[in-house]
Amino acid sequence: MWVGAAIGGEEWRDPGIAKLLASEFNMLTVGNYMKWESVHPEPGRYDFSHADALVAFARANRMALHAHVLVWENQLPDWLRLGNFGRAELIDILCRHIKTVVGHYRGQVYTWDVVNEAIADDGSFGDNLWLRTIGPEYIAMAFQWAAEADPDAILLYNDFQSEGLNEKSQAIYALAQGLQAMNIPIDGIGLQMHVWLDGPPTPQDLAANMQRLAALGLQVQITEMDVRTQYSTLGLPEKLRQQAEVYRQAMSTCVAAANCKVFVMWGTIDRLSWINEHYGPDMPLPFDGNNQPKPAYYALIEALRGP
Ligand code: G3I
Repeated sequence: MWVGAAIGGEEWRDPGIAKLLASEFNMLTVGNYMKWESVHPEPGRYDFSHADALVAFARANRMALHAHVLVWENQLPDWLRLGNFGRAELIDILCRHIKTVVGHYRGQVYTWDVVNEAIADDGSFGDNLWLRTIGPEYIAMAFQWAAEADPDAILLYNDFQSEGLNEKSQAIYALAQGLQAMNIPIDGIGLQMHVWLDGPPTPQDLAANMQRLAALGLQVQITEMDVRTQYSTLGLPEKLRQQAEVYRQAMSTCVAAANCKVFVMWGTIDRLSWINEHYGPDMPLPFDGNNQPKPAYYALIEALRGP
């Protein structure tokens, strides 16, 4: 099993975090530094410096690399977002971007998130620059170009709140099936798993979704798990206990599924989670602010060991 953590910035330079990554994880996700605004800040100018340093850290610590992300709506540079490009121009820009970025890391990436969050909750194509300008075929194009640039990388479609059975996961299933019917190289589905104490997908629904994707010959990967607790009125010990159970069930379901070999958390320690910045203070990860393991950590270890 690959067990990973996403690194959003420079926190890996902190010796405590570096030690945690090296000792507890065997996969690393580049959380922000391969996004357009970071890697392609001006037309035709690429800046791989931040991502390269993180990739070198992963290699030095023999961690597999999960690269994120080639096509998404967020964190696009202004030149692209506000550029008013026509369809042919945008296709050309996207093709060159994918070939350049994937090509730069060719042979070093275990998994690429090719397309991220392209489906809305109701199962329709979500509005974004790519859909508006190119049309839904941008998805097939992106997978094709990524495969050409690195034939050995595992290519994923990645999304949230579509881990269990609902309209969105049904649409993602249909999307993958449609891509396969066109011989487009898609290898798997990323299940982000940004969940709350209340209402994570049931283990039965999660297993059923994994199973139907397996029947298409697709891998599934837990790509961004964290478990928010901030809206719960429970006392701290009970919050931590319930959080541990949510992590345990997700890991157990992954371990039991033949097509689930990757389990990544969106961060390392609570203090560094993206949630604090976006939604206020929380403690969504398996390590506390002092890098110490929480009940969620021990639940994950038990689930990994299996029955
Ligand atoms: O880079 C600027 C910096 O120059 C500026 O000074 C600072 C001031 O706020 O902002 C910095 O940009 C921030 C960026 O992260 C890089 O740290 C943005 O404000 C912030 O909004 C952005 O948040 C990221 C978020 O995606 C944006 O959508 C999070 O770090 C990142 O963890 C999060 O990750 C996403 C995945 O890519 C896709 N799935 C969901 C997941 C969580 O939202």
